[in-house]
Amino acid sequence: MAFSKNGVAFLLMTTLFGVSLGTVYIVGDSTGWRVGTVDYNKWASTKKFNVGDVIVFKYDNKLHDVKQVTHQAFRSCNATSAAATYTTGFDSITIKSYGHFYFLCSFPGHCQAGQKVDIRVIPDSPGPSPSPPGSSPTAAPAPTKNTAHSLQSFKLWSSLITFAIFVTAEFAY
Ligand SMILES: *[C@@H]1O[C@H](CO)[C@@H](O)[C@H](O)[C@H]1NC(C)=O
Repeated sequence: MAFSKNGVAFLLMTTLFGVSLGTVYIVGDSTGWRVGTVDYNKWASTKKFNVGDVIVFKYDNKLHDVKQVTHQAFRSCNATSAAATYTTGFDSITIKSYGHFYFLCSFPGHCQAGQKVDIRVIPDSPGPSPSPPGSSPTAAPAPTKNTAHSLQSFKLWSSLITFAIFVTAEFAY
């Protein structure tokens, strides 16, 4: 494998930090960043992005790229004055503030065919309003966060174990 020990340590560190500070989302999940295969609007609409989360674009950089653009440019698929350009094929972008982050692929026709995503990061909505007086105190709102939370710890543990195995294998030679 071509990773240096420093590279592995760095990867391990960034993974640990990424996991401890927020959730890591791979855009398009296992499909990644492609044209015509994933409905990225739908993908994004099922997520609850937060400041500190990491958005990862995974793609073949001979076929695609990632450009961050304004809302207007996003709507018209105009990549000529992008605020940021990513071309590695594995680009991690940490969300640093609330707002919309618009990304598209600037290869001809790709954005028009749907290779664009709006990462909407909004503050957590205030908790459920207190029960009206007289209602039963046992009628507590369902803890809807638990599923997401255990999924997150599962992801944390599986990535830690994966990296532990990876590091062990790498240092064995
Ligand atoms: C794309 O945006 C640039 C500047 O942001 C503008 O000059 C150009 O006319 C736009 N192109 C189209 C096709 O709208």
